Amino acid sequence: MYSKITGTGSYLPDRILTNAELESMVDTSDEWIRSRTGIEKRHIAADDQTTCDLAEKAALSAIKAAGINASDIDLIIIATTTPDLVFPSTACLIQERLDIHGCPCFDVQAVCTGFIYAMSIAEKFISSNSSTCALVIGAETLSRIINWKDRNTSVLFGDGAGAVILQASETQGILSSHLHADGQYANLLNVPAGISSNHEMIKADKAFITMQGNEVFKVAVNTLGRIVDETLTANSIKKEEIDWLVPHQANMRIISATAKKLDMSMERVIVTVDQHGNTSAASVPLALDVAVRDGRIKVGDTILLEAFGGGFTWGSVLLRY
Ligand code: UT7
Repeated sequence: MYSKITGTGSYLPDRILTNAELESMVDTSDEWIRSRTGIEKRHIAADDQTTCDLAEKAALSAIKAAGINASDIDLIIIATTTPDLVFPSTACLIQERLDIHGCPCFDVQAVCTGFIYAMSIAEKFISSNSSTCALVIGAETLSRIINWKDRNTSVLFGDGAGAVILQASETQGILSSHLHADGQYANLLNVPAGISSNHEMIKADKAFITMQGNEVFKVAVNTLGRIVDETLTANSIKKEEIDWLVPHQANMRIISATAKKLDMSMERVIVTVDQHGNTSAASVPLALDVAVRDGRIKVGDTILLEAFGGGFTWGSVLLRY
């Protein structure tokens, strides 16, 4: 059994944080942020808004777009690095909000590659006849793990959620998925605290994203180049057969490098990093939903999703929409 996306949805919190506002918070400039990252603004969750709140809105939008009832869903996977609680999973919290009961629900933690991991897992549930209708979400409130006094990281990230309904289909939707990780790079991008290690940082409200940006940048560009090759080879498909690149939205320069690798003009690349910043696991489904709703992505298009993030983790999904 194949898997096909039958609906997409997304949600961004109302509050917009501009580069100009960041200039008054840290030693930075709109010019530096735009030229080094492409980011103009990002959305920030309200104090009382959680990852589950954002995920729920994206999920309801995807459910509506797919024309299904919530009760049709028999699997929920949420990719997030910023879950509401240590447990239960945010997926279980969403299940309760949707008033559905009994189906498997779990969170996936692969940082910015989380949505790619979640899609790959959902596709395997469907192809093995363990699920027929999966709700797959990427949702983040990264603003909660940002040190707003650190100019190296505070200008980069944003909050948001994106979701898809992935259903069993007799025609091919997902053509292949490719997942990787290499934990030797854990120190280059992390939050160096958790429940069982450096817990005092959490209690002291000092558990924030740390990143050696230029080191991450170099590995990201090379690795994404390799995942593009791996995906094309696995499907015996030529670069020009890909209609749309929907990349993880970390940095405009990384996105352009991947497009160049594919000999793709930027008109065929979905870019939201300028408007959303880096929303980690939410970035790919958010960008996908934007392009579906504005009519660029159409039924039958061949689309390459790719991402790279903390771990390091990286991966791709090639699909026919
Ligand atoms: O989503 C997960 C994966 N994450 C990524 O893929 C992020 C990858 N990395 C990047 O996107 C880029 O490395 C950054 C945007 C984070 C940084 O750009 P860069 O061109 O690599 O700059 P850099 O880190 O080499 O820093 C260059 C200079 C430094 O000053 P000096 O040492 O040359 O005097 C930084 O201190 O820019 C300085 N700098 C800033 N200046 C103004 C760093 N952050 C800022 C800032 N405003 N916000």
